[in-house]
Amino acid sequence: MWYLRGGQASLEDMVPLDLRSALAGFDPTLPIERASTPPASWFVSTEFAELEQREIFERSWQPVARVDEFVAPGDYSSGCLGRNPWVVTLGQDGELRAFHNTCRHKGREVVQGAGRADELVCGYHAWSYDLEGCLRKAPRMAGIEEFDREAMSLPAMSLEVWGPWIFLNPDPLAPPLAASAGPLIDLLDRRGWRGLKFVERITWDIKSNWKVVVDNYLDGGYHIPHMHPSLDAQLDMDSYRTEIFESSSVQSSRSAEAADRRIDYEAGKRIGEEALYLWLFPNFMLNRYGSCLDTNLVIPQGPDRCRVIYDFFFEGGSSEAEPDFIEQSMIQSDITQREDIAICESVQVGLSSGSYDRGRYAPQVEMGEYHFHRLLAARLAAALDRS
Ligand code: FES
Ligand SMILES: [Fe+2]
Repeated sequence: MWYLRGGQASLEDMVPLDLRSALAGFDPTLPIERASTPPASWFVSTEFAELEQREIFERSWQPVARVDEFVAPGDYSSGCLGRNPWVVTLGQDGELRAFHNTCRHKGREVVQGAGRADELVCGYHAWSYDLEGCLRKAPRMAGIEEFDREAMSLPAMSLEVWGPWIFLNPDPLAPPLAASAGPLIDLLDRRGWRGLKFVERITWDIKSNWKVVVDNYLDGGYHIPHMHPSLDAQLDMDSYRTEIFESSSVQSSRSAEAADRRIDYEAGKRIGEEALYLWLFPNFMLNRYGSCLDTNLVIPQGPDRCRVIYDFFFEGGSSEAEPDFIEQSMIQSDITQREDIAICESVQVGLSSGSYDRGRYAPQVEMGEYHFHRLLAARLAAALDRS
């Protein structure tokens, strides 16, 4: 409920954050040439982070699992979206279904983690549910009256499959995933990506607000020549472009090889002709280059912490006779990730310092970032108006 002005806490530094004035600190109606970035309070305030959880992350499509993790009927996986525990099951009929993973008895998570089972049994008092979410058994309930068994089913959660991913959305009124991801789905379909196989997941815990990571991704390649010498050598930065869609954006760059610049062997092979950097509001990025696809999912862990999950896919997967290429590609990616993490953590230090509030955009470069801030501002303003 409080945020700190300045890095060091003292009682007089602690002020309640007024969400409306925090939102008013960013004017999304200005052209980018005159716009300022959102105020630091958006990046350090617990109250603002809670508003985002409620109004952004509990109302957005989020990739929670991969289809290839569900092999046989009874396979299930569980987790949490914002405040919403979820469970996905593969039914006897081969259908994937998602439910709110909250036992109708006392509210415990019915299952935790992943596994394979004929039914979902709550560990607390052993109420059990079938793979379609219906209550099967409720032990020792003799004598209960007006017990509507059907009403005690696990509520369904919206589920969609796109490529290798299972997306969930806790908002029952959410429009379909294609309404926001349509341009990215079309682009990846054209680019060709069906043969990609999951190879590895790497998770990073970062000491920054989740938006710092997204901002860094959406800065139109502005920081690449300064912070990523290795990546800079692989790209033709003169060709770097940003294209804005309603709820997504695409950055693209030809490779240095395609531009006929001198590069080393592994780097050129890694990028191929062109690198595509696709972003889906609010927090999912897909990077398609060469024979690779990697995805970044940024999950808030509080106002000044986030977790980024990197999943790596390669054409042919690890069984292909190119382990050296995959290893080299992972090493290149690791270098870039470490450079980006250092940037984001340092930006968070500045945002928390009290000496910085708002910055400016480079109009020809940082349009993706401004687009992100505008979407966020519109969603949050609408939420405050509703309340
Ligand atoms: S809370 Fe699940 S059985 Fe009691
Ligand atoms: Fe970067």
